[in-house]
Amino acid sequence: MKIVNITDRISYIGVNDRKTPLFENNWSLPHGMAYNSYLINDDKTVLVDTVKYGSDNEYIAKIKKVLGDKPLDYIAVNHMEPDHAGMIGVIMDMYPDCKVIGNAQTKKMINDYFGIGEDRFKMVADGEEIPIGQSTLKFIYIPWVHWPETMVTYDVKDQVIFTCDAFGGYGALDGGIFDSDYDWDKVYLDDMRRYYSNIVCKYSTMVLKALAKLDSVPINVIAPSHGVVWKENPMKVVGLFKDWAEFKAEEGVVIAFATMYGHTETLADMIGQKLCDAGVKNIITYNVSNTNISFILSDIQKYKGYILGTCAYNGVMHPAMQHLCNEIKITAQKNKVVGLFGTSSWNGAGVKDLKKFAEENKIAPVEPAVETFGDPTPEKVEYQIDAFVKAYSAALK
Ligand code: FEO
Repeated sequence: MKIVNITDRISYIGVNDRKTPLFENNWSLPHGMAYNSYLINDDKTVLVDTVKYGSDNEYIAKIKKVLGDKPLDYIAVNHMEPDHAGMIGVIMDMYPDCKVIGNAQTKKMINDYFGIGEDRFKMVADGEEIPIGQSTLKFIYIPWVHWPETMVTYDVKDQVIFTCDAFGGYGALDGGIFDSDYDWDKVYLDDMRRYYSNIVCKYSTMVLKALAKLDSVPINVIAPSHGVVWKENPMKVVGLFKDWAEFKAEEGVVIAFATMYGHTETLADMIGQKLCDAGVKNIITYNVSNTNISFILSDIQKYKGYILGTCAYNGVMHPAMQHLCNEIKITAQKNKVVGLFGTSSWNGAGVKDLKKFAEENKIAPVEPAVETFGDPTPEKVEYQIDAFVKAYSAALK
C-alpha cells in the first residue's frame, strides 16, 4: 500500500491499473495507467478526485489509513469522467456527512451518474475559496480540459495545484510518484505526448486559455490525476503542454498506409525512400491495420507532416484508414504538411475518398497525390513520386 506524502498535509493515494488494455476502450495501454487521487488532511479533510471504479481494492484502505477516526468532509471533483469520478458513490456511502465540491456543470453530471442531489453538493464559483483550517482551497474553472465541467483545485498554503487531466499522461507509476524519481524523458515523455494527442489535443485552444489563466498562480507542485507529480520541475510540463497546444513539431514525417494485398505498402516504401533521398529525416511508416491508432496520432502530433495512403475498398478508403481519418478529424491536428497516395483496381475510389476527407476538414494536401492501378511498378509511379516528393519536401521547409 503506497501512500506518499507530498507535503505534511497532503498525501498521494492513487492507484495503478495494468489490467485495462485500452483506455476509454480505444487507446492502447502497454504501460498501464495511473489514476491519481489526493487526500488533504487539514482541520477539514478533502479528497481531491477519486479513481476508476474497482481499479484497486486498496484505495479505500488508503483513505481510512490517512484519515484514521476523522470523517471525510469533502470530495473536490475536478472532473466527472469516470476514470476519476468512479468511486464517488462508494465513498459518499462510506462517509454520509461528506459533501461534493463542484460547479454548475458538475452538479448535473453528479446527479446523473450517482443520484447525488443539492443536500450533498457544495457549488463553487470560478475563483471561489473555501477555508479548511491551516490552508484555503481555491477553485479555478478550466472548461474543456477535458470536459465542460473541468476545474483545478489549488491549495493556497502549500501552493499545490490539482489539475486532473491537465498535465497528465499514460503509464502506471512504477515505483516513485514524483518527476524526480525518473529519467522522465526516457520513461514517460512518449506516453505523455501520446496521451495529449489522443485525449487533450481536440481542446488545444482551451488548453492555451487555461495556461494563460493559471499563469499568475504561484505553483510549488503540479499534482495531476494521471502520470507523475511534478515537484522538482513543474514548469517543464507546463512548457510541454503549451508546445503541443501550439502544435510545435519536430523534423519528421509519418507515412500511414492501409493495404489489403501489399501494393499500397509498396507505394508507401517507395515514397519513404524518395523522401529520404531528398533529405527528409525521421520517416516513420505505419500499417494502420496492425498499429493502435493511439501511436500513429502521437507521432502525427510529434512530427511536421503526415502522408496517408489507402487501397480502394468497396468504393471508399480502407476501413482502417477511415478509423485513422476519423481520429485525425476529431483530434483536430493542425499545421501539418499532408500528402495522399493510393492504389486501386478499377476506379481510384480510395484516393478519391482521402481527397474528400481532406476537403471536408479544410486540409490542403500537397499536390499531386500519387495514384496507380494494380502493381505500383517504377515505370508507372516513379515520375509521380518524384513530383510529389519535390513538392512535399519543399512544403516541409
Ligand atoms: Fe482522465 Fe478526462 O479523464
